[in-house]
Amino acid sequence: MAKMRVNTKYRKIRSDFSLSNNKVYRSINGMEPKSVVNTIPLTWARAKDFSIVDPEGNTFIDLTCGIFVANSGHSNPAIKKAIKDQIDSDLLFSYNYPTEIKEKFLKKLLQLAPKYFNRVALLNTGSEAVDLAYKIMKVYGKKTKKKYIVTFTGSYHGRGLSNDLICGAKDKATRWSGVTDKYVRFIEFPYEEGTKFDPKKLPPAGEIAGFMLETFQGWGTWFYPKQFLRDLYKFARKNKALVCFDEMQAGFYRLGPIFGYMTYGKDIQPDIICVGKAITSSLPLAAVISRRELVDIDKADMHGTQSSNPLCLAAALANIKFLSANIAKFRKVMKVFESEMNKLTEFGIVKKVNARGMIAGIIFDETEPATAIVKNCIRNGVLPVCTNRNSIKIAPPLTITLPALREAVSVLRAAIELEDKKQ
Ligand SMILES: Cc1ncc(COP(=O)(O)O)c(C=O)c1O
Repeated sequence: MAKMRVNTKYRKIRSDFSLSNNKVYRSINGMEPKSVVNTIPLTWARAKDFSIVDPEGNTFIDLTCGIFVANSGHSNPAIKKAIKDQIDSDLLFSYNYPTEIKEKFLKKLLQLAPKYFNRVALLNTGSEAVDLAYKIMKVYGKKTKKKYIVTFTGSYHGRGLSNDLICGAKDKATRWSGVTDKYVRFIEFPYEEGTKFDPKKLPPAGEIAGFMLETFQGWGTWFYPKQFLRDLYKFARKNKALVCFDEMQAGFYRLGPIFGYMTYGKDIQPDIICVGKAITSSLPLAAVISRRELVDIDKADMHGTQSSNPLCLAAALANIKFLSANIAKFRKVMKVFESEMNKLTEFGIVKKVNARGMIAGIIFDETEPATAIVKNCIRNGVLPVCTNRNSIKIAPPLTITLPALREAVSVLRAAIELEDKKQ
């Protein structure tokens, strides 16, 4: 038996554990593109609820949910059962034919969503969902003679070429390929609290087809100042511009309500929402939720070979049933989470904490201490999200217990303190 360096109820780290000595990581490195493997060299063997276990039995408290996916906890028993039952029914694939599982899922999703939504386009990835929302805005723009789509600097909307067009690196992300869209306009993200929404920075009001908004800006969990968002929304309504929220990271109770945009106020009623990631807490599924008059169009094809996969739909149905039945309990832990995260500003090295529900972005001046803190946490059995920027993101499964959360926070605090003392 190897000696244990860390041994608690939630964390087990052998004394020979090292991040720089990962054979599986090195082997994969030789087979996948560089950008895919350029992540933290931690091999996952099993993931259960809020624990991740590597092949040697090292056990970590997960503060990543993979990447904001496992809101219901990894390998959630209700989701596993639903997938197994679906397997046993001998329907693993059904293309886009009607199935009972699809009917049940769509009914449940529309029942949980605000009543004015009446159409759901199913897809496999978040990037596809955003691509479709972009097309929907384009079609709407053609119909109404509005040409501009407005989005924000610093935003992220996926990895496809069309996603790149609306990601906040302006058109730099696609300039090399010659694919650009002169009608996508970027405005500065309002990082400062109190920043006012300024219509003068926009293209002519009557020519804007829509606004593409991440519910919060991903890399640092930056929320829009509430009044900014409300003024943007009022402006969009007045000028008949569509409002789309990319809810990839914010959806399915991560911020408290089922969709994160709802935290900006009850009267915010977007035309389109893009969801994915935590829609199943596990298998690949994404969706664009919208209204009939926007999506019943013949220009944009809205389905794919696997977009209604019965296993994914079974997982999604069990997932949203589980989350909606347990959210009251999760909200109690969210309160503690928010308060613990906000306390991190006690450390001089922490420049800002953006926390809401069960997600937080911890902002530093530089990338280096942020990455060092993540690695220190991992060596001590806690896995935060490494952004490779001057931020760390914390997003445990909503099922995390208070004792596990407190233990993870104490490891995080110790790692921050160490870097703080070096400053
Ligand atoms: C805000 C946002 N939009 C879109 C995407 C793309 O989703 P996917 O990786 O499932 O294509 C992501 C993924 O991280 C995201 O965070």
